[in-house]
Amino acid sequence: MNKNDHQEINATSSEKNIHTDFTNKMTYGEYLALDKILSAQNRLSGHHDEMLFIVIHQVSELWMKLILHEMGAAIQSIEKDDLSTAQKRLARVSKTQSQIIQAWDVLSTMTPSEYMEFRDSLGQASGFQSYQYRMVEFSLGYKTDHVLKIYEKDIELHSKLKDAFEAPGLYDVAIRALHRAGLHIDEDILNRDVTKSYKDNDSVRDAWMVVYKNTDKYWELYELAEKLIDIEDWLQQWRFRHMKTVERIIGFKMGTGGSSGVGYLKKVLDQRFFPELWAIRTEL
Ligand code: HEM
Repeated sequence: MNKNDHQEINATSSEKNIHTDFTNKMTYGEYLALDKILSAQNRLSGHHDEMLFIVIHQVSELWMKLILHEMGAAIQSIEKDDLSTAQKRLARVSKTQSQIIQAWDVLSTMTPSEYMEFRDSLGQASGFQSYQYRMVEFSLGYKTDHVLKIYEKDIELHSKLKDAFEAPGLYDVAIRALHRAGLHIDEDILNRDVTKSYKDNDSVRDAWMVVYKNTDKYWELYELAEKLIDIEDWLQQWRFRHMKTVERIIGFKMGTGGSSGVGYLKKVLDQRFFPELWAIRTEL
């Protein structure tokens, strides 16, 4: 440490205006409810590495909370044809997704032997029951109802999940925006039962083709489509890293949630949320 470093530290510690009297004022910790957040890491096994396992899941769930918040707002903006605001929200979603993906690098520092030390403490709990993850899938138009059964015992949560399950997804509202912009969309797609997963449709593919071939005319819809592709791309990358990390840690053992494990995680990689946006890439 040189003389200048010392001078800088002294200047900081002798700072006169630092607030220290919080008798009647809100602190940083209070604002962020850190007492709740930082006391929610209960290691059931008491094993050292269980802390990493809990924190990674909690951090991922917090990021999912932000993703749902932004996607919900983006859906509202698209419904109002305010596509530039929607794009801003969706750009934040993809940046957040890239953060969640980074979490796998940290989790990969956990070896199979370390995980096996506490795996039994999890019982049948598994990310498979992550209701926020299912709500993200709902927002992307992929609907499965097992999560509604899992949380039947919690009336408030169950009703929130039901609302999300019954609401149109991001792609549904994007397709309606295509229709409002004058592009032909089949009636049965505009009035589809949104509690079913979205299935590809020729009129939607043709409409996106028009957008991609006339980008100047449909610039905002074109940009929206690229944001949707970003989101699906990042979600699949998250799924791929999850599957590989799981293989690295438990090999081909069954999951705590009761699935075949890696086999199941490989299968969900084939799901498509926005099928026509991928299909037109071959045709363009
Ligand atoms: C040691 C670490 C992990 C292992 C061994 C693991 C294992 C598994 C397995 C085997 C499944 C399939 C369902 C089952 O039978 O349980 C699954 C699903 C899932 N896990 Fe993990 N996981 C790990 C970490 C994480 C993390 C950090 C998250 C972040 C939230 C997460 C979120 C999920 C989600 C959302 C699913 C459902 C996927 C789907 O149905 O498409 N997992 N996990």
